[in-house]
Amino acid sequence: MSKSKTSNTMWGGRFAQGPDAIMEAINASIGFDKRMARQDIQGSRAHAHMLAACGIITDNDAGAIREGLLTVLSEIENNTFEYSTALEDIHMNVESRLTALIGEPAGRLHTARSRNDQVATDFKLWVRDQMDASIGGLEALIGAFLVQAEDGADAVMPGFTHLQVAQPVTWGHHMMAYVEMFGRDLSRMRDARVRMNESPLGAAALAGTSFPIDRHMTAEALGFDAPSANSLDAVSDRDFALDFLSSASICATHLSRFAEELVIWSSAQFKFVTLSDRFSTGSSIMPQKKNPDAAELIRAKVGRINGSLIALLTIMKGLPLAYSKDMQEDKEQVFDAADSLMLALAAMTGMVSDLTPNKPQLETAAAAGFSTATDLADWLVRMLDMPFREAHHVTGALVKLAEDQGCDLPELALSDMQGVCKDITDAVYDVLTVQNSTQSRTSYGGTAPDQVRAQIARWKEVLK
Ligand code: ARG
Repeated sequence: MSKSKTSNTMWGGRFAQGPDAIMEAINASIGFDKRMARQDIQGSRAHAHMLAACGIITDNDAGAIREGLLTVLSEIENNTFEYSTALEDIHMNVESRLTALIGEPAGRLHTARSRNDQVATDFKLWVRDQMDASIGGLEALIGAFLVQAEDGADAVMPGFTHLQVAQPVTWGHHMMAYVEMFGRDLSRMRDARVRMNESPLGAAALAGTSFPIDRHMTAEALGFDAPSANSLDAVSDRDFALDFLSSASICATHLSRFAEELVIWSSAQFKFVTLSDRFSTGSSIMPQKKNPDAAELIRAKVGRINGSLIALLTIMKGLPLAYSKDMQEDKEQVFDAADSLMLALAAMTGMVSDLTPNKPQLETAAAAGFSTATDLADWLVRMLDMPFREAHHVTGALVKLAEDQGCDLPELALSDMQGVCKDITDAVYDVLTVQNSTQSRTSYGGTAPDQVRAQIARWKEVLK
């Protein structure tokens, strides 16, 4: 193993030897934290401006630092920046390049701060951007579900429990169930954003600083609502990342549920929906195949996202105050989960927008499996004043009869029904159709088209 190198120029004053190659490999985060370059430069520019405003460095030095940082940013954006593993992370890579560009004033940038508050600030800014992006992604997805719901507000389909036919519902109602789910995800993401929006910058290494800094000033410049109130907490808090990951995990769980329905519904056995060619793939051997790959991959992404949440929870568990290097392991988890979530949201939005419900097939399927049996039992209660338990029993006997005759409930002869319960009249046939069944479920939040349309209108208002 190599022992040759000179020590790190940023912190190597007390070191006689450079790090072992393995030490460098385990220590470096530049391979991934380069994704926070923009946030790092944004934070440093705000810090330099504040240092000058508070008389801690000169205006000239602050000006040189702020200009120099813009040059570094343009080098990064133009891919001409040379990252160095020896310089460990994005913070030291940027500062080192700034030193090469502007010389002495660069050395004053790190006054009254530490990489501990710097990394917390950069990472918060990055996560906040992702929260905003996922809020936008969720709004788009909800919009796509609302269009589907409106188009099929009174289209009838089977409602399932245990994936067994239960009662007819409307397509619009089913779509709106997902609007509710993703609506909660939206509110969770917004809550998390409100809670996290405090600036760690100026907490320094852990204890604050003796320099007369203005943390309110940097907080405001970086779009935070306030500086965080405890410097120990500020540098060791990763709750914002955990909040993001848990919101992302729940959202990914919801995505996986609809993805699973799409896989089932698009199969030859169900034929409930047609997926667009744009979001399907073919098979290299079976020419007839059209596979729901996007839905399957969306269904799988939850595995990675949940994994990231568990990983970071485990990394943070038992860490003493304040900063520990363990926390460097936070970023890859969040980066991967954020990428996965954004891609899954975009793919699902595309699939939902392109989705064609096969309405005749849905309606036929809605009538199968004696799906209006509950309507029949309710009719016995309402018209014959039968206790529900008895009505349930009588209806069970009628279902058995239909099953024996190999027909559906509406096809039973009145005389046969009267053989089971003599008071049944032919008015019963009205409640046995799937349309009647869905139309009748007008309770608040029920499947009746009017209820569905009322919820669509409410959501459109909410999203305005
Ligand atoms: N690369 C480090 C991280 O991501 C930056 C903070 C380093 N702080 C320290 N005290 N070594 O956590």
